[in-house]
Amino acid sequence: MKPDILYFGHFPDATVAELNRRYHVHHWLNLPRPEDIPADVAARVRGVATEANRGLSRAILDRLPKLEAVSVFGVGLDLVDVKAIQARGIALGNTPDIIGPEVADLAIGLMLASARQIIFADHYARSGEWARKGPVPFGRSVGNKTCGVIGLGGIGRAIADRASAFRMRVLYNATREKKDVPYTYVGDVVELARQSDYLMVACKGGPQTRHLVSRAVIEALGPQGTLINVARGSVVDEEALIDALAHGRLGWAALDVFEKEPDFDQRLTAFPNVILQPHHGTAALETRLAMGELMIDNLAAGLEKRPLRTPVAA
Ligand code: 8YV
Repeated sequence: MKPDILYFGHFPDATVAELNRRYHVHHWLNLPRPEDIPADVAARVRGVATEANRGLSRAILDRLPKLEAVSVFGVGLDLVDVKAIQARGIALGNTPDIIGPEVADLAIGLMLASARQIIFADHYARSGEWARKGPVPFGRSVGNKTCGVIGLGGIGRAIADRASAFRMRVLYNATREKKDVPYTYVGDVVELARQSDYLMVACKGGPQTRHLVSRAVIEALGPQGTLINVARGSVVDEEALIDALAHGRLGWAALDVFEKEPDFDQRLTAFPNVILQPHHGTAALETRLAMGELMIDNLAAGLEKRPLRTPVAA
């Protein structure tokens, strides 16, 4: 008999096919209420596969008495009750390392799109404004500017490496200074923002970083600054961000993540100097397939009581 597993979220077709080949699968796109999982299914479930941006709540965990393995598709654990999972001795894995370059590519893409007005310029050409009004208004450079990076893990490091290839001066803030990087550490996030033209948010989500990008940080970045967030919406004080944009105290923003997803604050759609993206930093097929493989490897290892390839440290 195939083990019963639950999976939450949206995975590539090949990942879903492999899950179905190995397991008796029950699927919800978003986290269900615990009572939506039929009692007979809940009693049998041995594994859970879940997207990082869906997570796994304590209430669902409590409904699954036979749970042995949880495998997260993605790196962020801010929506996963890690403590409760590990306290029950349930194996827990995620998919770090493989996502950094992909998310960094989007971050750099957003910086270029904002600076060089790629989305605006596309409309300008397409709508006939170019022919009617003449050359497009000037954008701004990224070369020789300062890129501040908040969080120098897999994503932040990949952003810093790319920014430096663009001849940017790279500064970073992290929980501590890293000895093995050629970038300058700035211990205070307000100071980092003050020195940055482009401020990249690439740190973990969760209570420790909630609203780390505060009103003071946003205002230090200022009317000539650009905020780019590919991490978690919770890191930015979105109310302060909207207020700063509305009053010209921040120049530009490019956001892949929001405090509330997917029905994010619609006031953001009113700003022409903001680029909005639907939380798709890792959503290139090659990377999503690699994440799917690693997620299934971890799930299988947990169910078979083998060491996980990428376990979450206790
Ligand atoms: C996606 C992510 O949200 O890895 C993360 O923490 O946020 C992303 O990879 C998603 O979990 C992948 O589908």
